[in-house]
Amino acid sequence: MSKPQAAIHPRVLVFDSGIGGLSIAGCIHQALPSVPLVYLADSAGFPYGGQPEAVVVERSVRLIGEVLATLPCDIVVVACNTASTVVLPALRAMTDTPVIGVVPAIKPAAALSRNRRIGLLATPATVTRPYLAELIEAHASDCLIERVGHPDLVCWIEGLMADEKLPSKELGSALQPFRDARVDTVVLGCTHYPLVMPLLKELLPGVLHWVDSGEAIARRVAWLLAQAGQDCSDSRSSCSQPMERVLFTGPLPEGLAGFLAGLGLSTGQLSGNWPRPENEQGQ
Ligand code: DGL
Repeated sequence: MSKPQAAIHPRVLVFDSGIGGLSIAGCIHQALPSVPLVYLADSAGFPYGGQPEAVVVERSVRLIGEVLATLPCDIVVVACNTASTVVLPALRAMTDTPVIGVVPAIKPAAALSRNRRIGLLATPATVTRPYLAELIEAHASDCLIERVGHPDLVCWIEGLMADEKLPSKELGSALQPFRDARVDTVVLGCTHYPLVMPLLKELLPGVLHWVDSGEAIARRVAWLLAQAGQDCSDSRSSCSQPMERVLFTGPLPEGLAGFLAGLGLSTGQLSGNWPRPENEQGQ
């Protein structure tokens, strides 16, 4: 198979297991409104936090490879902490396209925390990965890091698209370890969580600093594009439909188009049950 041509206009692929990566896509669009985005959600494999590492690696590499073969992109953003903790080496071995991963923002949190007590809210998989222990050791060894690996929060957030109510009382109880530890800073170590930031702030009013990775990832994307000679900071050439394509490996959630529009990420083309044989392509 011949190598696909590089994108004429820089195009960024944002990948997650579900809708969480939309929080990152929103930040990239804010910073680089002229850059079209392709969004890939492995919703058929969701949640990645419940999958063996080898499955996460195999699925991510295969699916991202399939997108790149048909829609060449200038940068791949793995907008999923759970996948990023295990998949980056295999992905970088598979493609020459620069790959950016998302890891819990422990370093910026350590810079912000005054009382050296930090809460980390993530998936159960992310809180136990060695990568996290290394981050803490390198950047926050003088801090107490209270970890909450919530088993259901990602599923609850996905349910918002189907108009399901998020059980906020249950979530409030699950966050009790942060109150007990008197953390002044909370790291959102899962890209789904910024999508419910107002609720989290309401449940933990004493927290001074909320840290996620969205803006840092957007800056990194801008920097890599600039390094490649592509200045994309001109907001006058903003895309009318920032999401060039949205691909879900499972069926499309009913409220997805409205949800995207609410985040300022309206799209030209939504495809569910992707990839499908060519003669079956469409909505
Ligand atoms: N958004 C993903 C993350 O940042 C969700 C994880 C999952 O699928 O379990 O970790």
